[in-house]
Parts: sequence; structure tokens; C-alpha cells
Amino acid sequence: MFAYWRQGFTVLVLVLAGSVWAPASRAGTEAAPIDTATIEKNRKANEACFACHSAAGIKNPPKADLDLANKLKDSRLEPALFNPADHGVMDCRQCHAGNHYDPYPHAEVGKNETAPCTECHAAKVMRLEPQFNASVHAKNEGLKEKFTCNTCHNAHENIVALRLKDPHKIVAQDNHGCLECHNSDLTFAKFAPDGEKTPGVKRKRPDIDTIHDWLPNTKLHWNAVRCVECHTPEVAAKKMLSHEILDKEKAEKKCVTCHSANSTLKVRLYRHMAKDEQQRLGFTNSVILSNSYVIGATRHPVLDGIVIGLVILTLAGMLAHGAIRIVAALRRKGNKEQAK
Ligand code: HEC
Ligand code: HEC
Ligand code: HEC
Ligand code: HEC
Ligand code: HEC
Ligand code: HEC
Ligand code: HEC
Repeated sequence: MFAYWRQGFTVLVLVLAGSVWAPASRAGTEAAPIDTATIEKNRKANEACFACHSAAGIKNPPKADLDLANKLKDSRLEPALFNPADHGVMDCRQCHAGNHYDPYPHAEVGKNETAPCTECHAAKVMRLEPQFNASVHAKNEGLKEKFTCNTCHNAHENIVALRLKDPHKIVAQDNHGCLECHNSDLTFAKFAPDGEKTPGVKRKRPDIDTIHDWLPNTKLHWNAVRCVECHTPEVAAKKMLSHEILDKEKAEKKCVTCHSANSTLKVRLYRHMAKDEQQRLGFTNSVILSNSYVIGATRHPVLDGIVIGLVILTLAGMLAHGAIRIVAALRRKGNKEQAK
């Protein structure tokens, strides 16, 4: 409850500030980069938390009788995952209620006071929120309250695509966010609304591979493209990915959207790769080639010319061959008739 109040208050303050300081306040509403000395300091401070909140801590607790193996069995916290992540430069306490968690056992009061994204990313949240609110997950009553930014964004592990760069890593991270629910009956049921036919009984999870069986090599596609490639509207290359997950009727089904020289993947999955990288070796979309060979999208003008030339020659050859055979057959027929 307090978190909502705080979120509302932050937005209010920012809106008021924005109306007075309009152009200057923009930069101030976004988390600024953190300098190296502060990063060092934060990482040192986090060691106190990792003393318990890590595999090493669970194995070797700072005090006896903590039963960490049981109490922290579902936790994935790990310095090796946290430190390189987007928020790995921060002190845990910046999001987790100041010094509230320093003593252990942690007090009940103050738990669940995790700072909302708006507190540090107000400008981005303001831009994304209309899209987020229009998406299938937010439009669905019952799902709305439970579906928040950190349903998809793991605050401890995620690395923004712009920094990940490698398309395979981006695909793995972003699809994991969707499949965590869409590939698990257990998690899906926690979020699913009641079915139309039998109220009280949760709607069944549609099997992801079955729904997409029209897509050849379905499993291969899951490793090469993101769900959001087909389930969100396209945006200009410089804008943030749209957070509007469209109704299933509006999802992309046309193969040429990706498998063509003008592939949509250029402004989606491959948008963070430099232009020259995209055109390396004279191939159109060579970046796709260096990661995988996307039929139709990975092209080379000279090779294309040679292939088209070969096709024309083959066709011409076939036509000539056919014509000669027809003429020959007619001649033979004519000869036979003459012989009668
Ligand atoms: C002595 C071991 C220990 C240390 C040190 C420790 N924690 Fe914890 N923490 C736990 C255990 C065990 C839990 C599981 C729930 C519980 O027992 O409160 C937990 C739970 C949490 C939770 C989840 C609370 C909830 O709502 O369920 C957060 C957040 C947290 N710790 C943050 C921190 C931060 C931040 C630090 C460092 C400032 C820290 N902890 C240091 C042992 C520790
Ligand atoms: C950018 C903000 C942010 C930072 C920094 C952060 N966390 Fe969290 N943490 C979250 C959010 C968001 C959740 C999910 C809370 C929820 O679902 O209600 C969470 C959940 C947790 C939980 C409970 C779930 C779990 O994974 O076990 C623990 C424990 C925890 N954080 C510990 C830490 C520790 C230790 C650090 C520092 C190494 C840290 N957090 C840094 C935002 C943050
Ligand atoms: C207490 C402040 C704080 C909170 C709360 C917070 N962040 Fe961040 N976030 C930061 C900082 C600081 C950075 C790193 C900025 C840098 O290094 O340039 C960052 C970086 C990021 C990045 C990568 C860079 C970018 O802006 O695109 C993403 C994505 C992000 N945060 C998403 C979230 C989401 C989603 C939430 C809510 C679950 C959240 N953050 C909550 C402070 C915060
Ligand atoms: C349905 C899953 C989902 C939800 C919910 C979600 N996001 Fe995202 N978000 C993504 C995906 C996928 C990306 C693309 C990965 C990337 O660019 O790093 C992304 C990217 C981002 C980025 C980086 C964009 C850029 O180009 O710099 C920010 C910032 C962000 N989300 C913030 C938020 C905030 C704030 C919320 C809550 C209002 C939110 N997200 C809710 C899935 C989600
Ligand atoms: C926390 C769980 C969860 C996550 C994460 C999640 N979804 Fe969903 N999604 C659901 C549930 C539950 C439904 C069912 C809603 C319904 O049946 O009305 C749904 C429905 C959908 C639908 C069907 C919409 C329609 O028109 O019926 C699509 C498409 C979809 N999700 C795509 C995605 C994509 C893409 C991602 C990742 C960016 C994602 N989801 C992440 C839980 C989730
Ligand atoms: C190549 C494009 C494409 C990709 C990639 C893709 N989808 Fe879809 N998806 C579609 C289309 C098109 C439909 C509508 C299918 C139909 O109606 O026959 C759909 C339907 C769905 C539905 C609706 C199921 C239902 O009937 O209620 C969900 C949920 C869904 N997709 C989730 C996902 C998830 C999760 C991923 C990532 C693992 C993903 N999709 C990747 C194109 C795609
Ligand atoms: C969202 C973009 C996207 C859409 C839409 C899409 N594909 Fe793909 N497809 C890819 C990518 C990327 C690969 C590259 C996989 C690799 O080799 O790593 C691929 C690979 C393939 C392959 C396998 C090539 C191989 O190396 O074995 C076939 C076949 C294929 N797609 C056919 C189709 C067909 C048919 C459709 C339409 C029903 C379709 N694709 C729609 C992006 C897409």
C-alpha cells in the first residue's frame, strides 16, 4: 500500500516539477550513470547482504542455526549474476527500504517496501505506461493488479538489450521473461483469469508450441527471435521497444516480415548493432548472417545476381529443350503420316 502511495506521490511531484521546469527537468527524472568510486563503495556494502543471499552464503552461513538452505531455497541471488546486471552498480538498500534489512532477523515492518520503478525511471515509465496499459495483460481484469514491471524485468539479473548486443543473449533473456509463465502451468495458473465456461476454474494454459505449429522449426525460432518481435507493434529505430502486447489476432504471421531484404528484424532484434555491422561484407543484413542464416533476409547483391542469372539460364534451357522436343515430336509425327 505504502509503495503505491509513494509511487503516486513521486509522479505527482514530477508532474508538478515538469510543469514548472519543463525542458530542464527531463534529464533529472531518469537514473543517472553511477561513477566508479560509488560503484566500488556499493559493491563493498552489498557483501554484507551476499553473506547470506548467495549460494556461498547458504552453504556457509555467517551464523549457525540460520537454516538458510530452507529459507532461501527459491532465491537466485548471486554476485556473478547481480554485478554485471543493469542494477549491479547499486546498493541493495537503494531499492530495499534503506537500512531496514541490515539487522537479521529482518523486521516484519517495512518488508514489501521495494522501491517502484517510477522512483528512478519516471520519464521512461511515463513514456511506456500508456503502451503497457493497452497490452493484453493489463486489459485483462484480474491480471492487471498482479502484472507489473518486474513480472518481466528481473531487477537483479536483467541486462538491457542495448548493452547485451549479442542477439542470441537478448533472445534468451527476453523469451525467458515470457516463457516463465507461458511454459509453466503452475505460474500461468497464478495469473490466469477464470475460464468462461466454468467460473472458479482457471483458464487453461495454451501450449506455446501447438499454437505456433504453423511456424516451421518452431523450437529453432524460439532460439532465434523474440516473442515480442511478432506480438508488439513496430516502432522507429530510435524509440524504445513498444510495451503493448497486442491481441493475438493482431500478431505477426507473415514470413516475409522477417524473411525478406527489408526484414523488420533490422529495427527490432538487431537495432542495437551498428549500421556498418549490419552491412558488413556487402551482404544486406550481414549481421543476421554472422549469427544465423535467415532465409530471404541474408542477401548479397552479386550472389543474388549470379543466382538469378542461373535461374534464367536454367529456365531458358528448359524452354529451349521443351521447344526442340515438341518440334522433333511434330516432325516424327509428320514423317510417320507421310510414310502411311
Ligand atoms: C544473516 C543472514 C542474512 C543477511 C546478512 C541478510 N539477509 Fe535478507 N534474508 C535472510 C533470510 C533467511 C531471508 C528469508 C526471509 C526471512 O527469514 O526474513 C531474507 C529475506 C530478505 C528479503 C525478502 C523479504 C521478504 O519480503 O520476504 C529481502 C528484500 C532481503 N532479505 C534483503 C536483504 C538485504 C538488502 C540485506 C543486506 C543489507 C540482507 N537481506 C542481509 C537472511 C539474511
Ligand atoms: C533496482 C532495485 C533493486 C536492487 C538494487 C536490488 N533489488 Fe532485491 N528486489 C527488487 C525487486 C523489484 C524485487 C521483487 C519484489 C517483489 O516481487 O515484490 C526484489 C526482491 C528481492 C528479494 C526477495 C526475492 C528473492 O529473490 O529472493 C531479496 C531477498 C532481495 N531482493 C535481495 C536483494 C539484495 C541482497 C540486493 C543487493 C545485492 C538487491 N536485492 C538489490 C529490487 C531490487
Ligand atoms: C532506486 C533506483 C532504481 C529503481 C527503483 C529502479 N532502477 Fe532501474 N536503474 C537504476 C540505475 C541507477 C540504473 C543504472 C543507470 C546507469 O548505469 O546508467 C538503472 C538501469 C536500468 C535499466 C537499464 C538502462 C536503461 O535505463 O534502459 C533498466 C532497463 C532498468 N533500470 C529498469 C528498471 C525497472 C523495470 C525497474 C522496476 C522493477 C527499475 N529499473 C527500478 C535505478 C533504479
Ligand atoms: C510483458 C513483459 C514486460 C513488462 C510487463 C514490462 N517490460 Fe520493459 N521490456 C520488456 C522487453 C522484452 C524489453 C526489451 C529488452 C530490452 O530492450 O532490453 C523491455 C525493455 C524495457 C526497457 C529498455 C528499453 C530501451 O530501449 O532502453 C525499459 C526501460 C523498460 N523495459 C521498462 C519497463 C517498465 C518501467 C515497465 C512497467 C511499466 C516494464 N518495462 C514492463 C518486457 C516487459
Ligand atoms: C506472469 C505471467 C505472464 C508473463 C510473464 C507473460 N504472460 Fe502473456 N499471458 C499471461 C496470462 C495469464 C494470459 C491469459 C490471459 C487470458 O487468457 O485472458 C496471457 C495472454 C497472452 C497472450 C494472448 C492474448 C490474447 O489475445 O488472448 C499473448 C499473445 C501473450 N500473453 C504474450 C506474452 C508475451 C509476448 C510475453 C513476454 C513479453 C508474455 N505474454 C508474458 C501471463 C503471462
Ligand atoms: C513468428 C511470429 C511469432 C512469434 C515469434 C511468437 N508468436 Fe505467439 N502468436 C503469433 C501469432 C500469429 C498468433 C496467433 C495464432 C493464431 O491465431 O493462429 C500467436 C498466438 C499466441 C498466443 C495466444 C494463444 C491463444 O490462442 O490464446 C500466445 C499466448 C502467444 N502467441 C505467446 C507467444 C510467446 C510466449 C512467444 C515466444 C516464445 C511467441 N508467442 C512467439 C506469432 C508469433
Ligand atoms: C519474427 C521474425 C520471423 C518470422 C515472422 C518468421 N521467421 Fe523463420 N526465422 C527467423 C530467424 C531469425 C531464423 C534464423 C534461425 C537460425 O538459423 O538461427 C529463422 C529460421 C527459419 C527457418 C530455418 C532455417 C534453417 O536454418 O534451418 C525456416 C525454414 C523458417 N525460418 C521459415 C519460416 C516461415 C515459413 C515463416 C512463416 C510461417 C517464418 N519463418 C517466419 C525469423 C522469423
